[in-house]
Order: sequence, then structure tokens, then C-alpha cells
Amino acid sequence: MRIDILTVVPELLDSPFSHSIIKRGQDKGLVEIHVHNIRDFSTDKHKRTDDYAFSGGAGMVMTIQPIEAAIKHLKSQREYDEIIYTSPDGEQFSQGIANKLSLKGNLMILCGHYKGVDQRVREHFITREISIGDYVLTGGELAAAVMTDSIVRLIPGVISDETSALTDSFQDNLLSPPVYTRPANYKGWKVPDVLTSGNDRKINEWKEKQAYERTQQLRPDLLNGD
Ligand code: ADE
Repeated sequence: MRIDILTVVPELLDSPFSHSIIKRGQDKGLVEIHVHNIRDFSTDKHKRTDDYAFSGGAGMVMTIQPIEAAIKHLKSQREYDEIIYTSPDGEQFSQGIANKLSLKGNLMILCGHYKGVDQRVREHFITREISIGDYVLTGGELAAAVMTDSIVRLIPGVISDETSALTDSFQDNLLSPPVYTRPANYKGWKVPDVLTSGNDRKINEWKEKQAYERTQQLRPDLLNGD
């Protein structure tokens, strides 16, 4: 899989993909993540990428020219399954969307900034608009990082224990059961006996019950299919 991210602040994405599991996925050749500076495609003599809104009002708007140039440049090299725009108005990101996107070959993500992009970009180039939640960020870069992280970890082989992505919270509309590690007794705070019993059937039953009870208590909306 390949993910191309277009942004006016590439520095914001320096770190999220350079460590731990996401870095390992890239090192293993399972995913390529490329961050592109939209400014590099600007034909403006000052390399500007934003301008005042025609309607007036506060805030700048990202101009169409450098975005079109960047998208066309990438599209001339390969086909993209989706060209995603990060925006608080988009459909809400979820584990289900991450699952589906992880099966794609090439994704492009355009990060909104300032007041957003010229509407014509959305109409002519964007195939999907996604929000990571009902709150407003200063830009779409962190949203792109969140989406990329959750998509990449689902690619087979990125997480060493393949079953662990399948047992994540939300994969079956249930939160994960609690987890414990050694020591089994820390200052009198004990791990539930069943987990040290060695009885796999009982352990699985306990995990399922815990997952169900935690979901009922903390996120009953998941059980109602909301
Ligand atoms: N840009 C600003 N806020 C955002 C959000 N909540 N989701 C995606 N992109 C955004």
C-alpha cells in the first residue's frame, strides 16, 4: 500500500510515521508513506498557497492551483483508489472505514488548513471527505496522521501478532477486555485468578464476558448498533 499526504505544514507529520509499528511497516516494505509540501507546487512568486475568501470574513482559503498541480503530478504516476480530504464536515472516521481503506492500494490524503480549500478542489478532485470527530482542529494534518496510523496497523504483517489487530476494541463492536502482565500480585493488587489458571476455555469465556460488560457500561451505543 502507498499513502500520499498533501499538506502546507509537512513538519507536523515528521514524527508520527517515524517510530514504532508504523515505521516497522515501512521498513518491511508493507507500506510507503510520502508527505508532500503543497507549497512546492505553487506557481506564485512568493510560493503562496492561500488567499482571501471572495465572500470576505475572517480566515484564509487554500488556493486551487498548487493543489491541482500536486494531485495531477501524483495521478500521472499511479492510480488512486481514493483522494481523501480531511475536514470536520466529512463522514465520521471509524474502525469500519479503516478496515476498508486498509484493503486499498493507493490512497491520497489532502490536509485542509486555514478556513479550508477552495470548494472547486472538493468538487473536482476529492472522492471522499472524512472527519475524525465533531471538533475543529487547526489543520487536517493530525487527522491524516490518525487515519494513516489506524489504516496502516491493519495491513497484514505490520503488527507481528496478526490476531492482535482482530481483537482490537471496535472490531466486533465490543471494547477490549482488561489486560494484565507480571507480577501477578503487585503490593496485594492481584490479577484475576482465571488468567493464571492455564485453562484456555475459561480464560476466553472471561474475556468475552468482560468485553461485553465493559461495553455495556462504557459504550452501550455500540451494542445498540447506533
Ligand atoms: N480538520 C479540522 N478539524 C478536523 C476534524 N475534526 N477532522 C478532520 N479534519 C479536520
